[in-house]
Amino acid sequence: MTEGSGAIKAVGRGAANRRGAHFVAAPGRLDAGAAGQHTLAAMVSLPDFIRGLPKAELHLHIEGSLEPEQMFAFAGRNGIALPFASVEALRAAYAFAKLQDFLDIYYQGADVLRTEADFRDLALAYFRRVAADGARHVELFFDPQTHTSRGIPFAVAAEGLLAGMAQAERELGVSSKLILCFLRHLDEDAAFATLREAEPWLDRIVGVGLDSSEVGHPPSKFAGVFRAARERGLKLVAHAGEEGPPAYVREALDLLHVDRIDHGNRALEDAELVRRLAREAMTLTVCPLSNLKLCVVGDLADHPLKRMLQLGLKATVNADDPAYFGGYLAENWIAVSQALGLTREDLVTLAKNSFTGSFLAPEEVARHLAAIDAYAQAQPEIA
Ligand code: HPA
Ligand code: ZN
Repeated sequence: MTEGSGAIKAVGRGAANRRGAHFVAAPGRLDAGAAGQHTLAAMVSLPDFIRGLPKAELHLHIEGSLEPEQMFAFAGRNGIALPFASVEALRAAYAFAKLQDFLDIYYQGADVLRTEADFRDLALAYFRRVAADGARHVELFFDPQTHTSRGIPFAVAAEGLLAGMAQAERELGVSSKLILCFLRHLDEDAAFATLREAEPWLDRIVGVGLDSSEVGHPPSKFAGVFRAARERGLKLVAHAGEEGPPAYVREALDLLHVDRIDHGNRALEDAELVRRLAREAMTLTVCPLSNLKLCVVGDLADHPLKRMLQLGLKATVNADDPAYFGGYLAENWIAVSQALGLTREDLVTLAKNSFTGSFLAPEEVARHLAAIDAYAQAQPEIA
């Protein structure tokens, strides 16, 4: 993680705190003690403020939380030979110039997921990490076609994930909802077949999404299946404007009638579209470290998140595929906050956006918003 620039600066590398982060102090806030030692004024470090802040994760591909160590463990217990000699060799392959480079290795990696226990353990490992990051609620994606296409029944993935989600709620207090994503590089008939297969689970699946290779596969290709999902009362989201043009964001709004846009970065190229997104209070699920790793931005200092907030857009911060992109939820928050100099007010806004943009019931949203206010009021100044 880079040292920050801008409003929130990490300085001082003193005693490690309870969570392993470092105490930080702003210049001029170190008090010289009688013995000439420096003591810290009552302040909270940026990482600690972020980890303690109640927040939701709204853009997380569970297959993208498959860590290299886990990939080897699942391959071992399922008797699968991996084309990589070691965890290090696998990690070294995580160098991507664009979305497709990542997708190729991500679909290959998912092949180690074979049993309900694999999906349950994958989900649980993710929830343990994100609970430590201060997540109170998660809306996670899964890609059933990645599994059914290699002979793993829909039921295996869905039941395994739902079991992990239920256990996480019981043991970690993190609530969650499941979103089924259609792979956009496949045709709409395949998406319809997936929706039919999902029928027995639709009371436990909150909505449908659209992911995979964006350019050349516009939202319009899936207007029929999104209409069918809407008629069943499902929530609707779609990746748009990650690599695709602003026109894809418009299509997601006008033809798919989405409730959220996943990513949405390239919407900023179209001022009229930006005004519309702001007017409609459309939530954008933004993924800073993903954007960096997939070269959507060249440098986090150029990330559009701060601009989105200034333009009145309902942006949120999310991890996307944390095992591949170098950070879970809190690491995304910390890195982008340091790179852009986000203020305390920005952080509180982002946390609130993550709940108002969620599919939780209004009374649940209100409870989380009150928890954010209580937390922010109780915290000292961020160092
Ligand atoms: N973009 C598109 N499809 C995906 C992604 C992503 O970042 N992660 C998993 N599927
Ligand atoms: Zn994504």
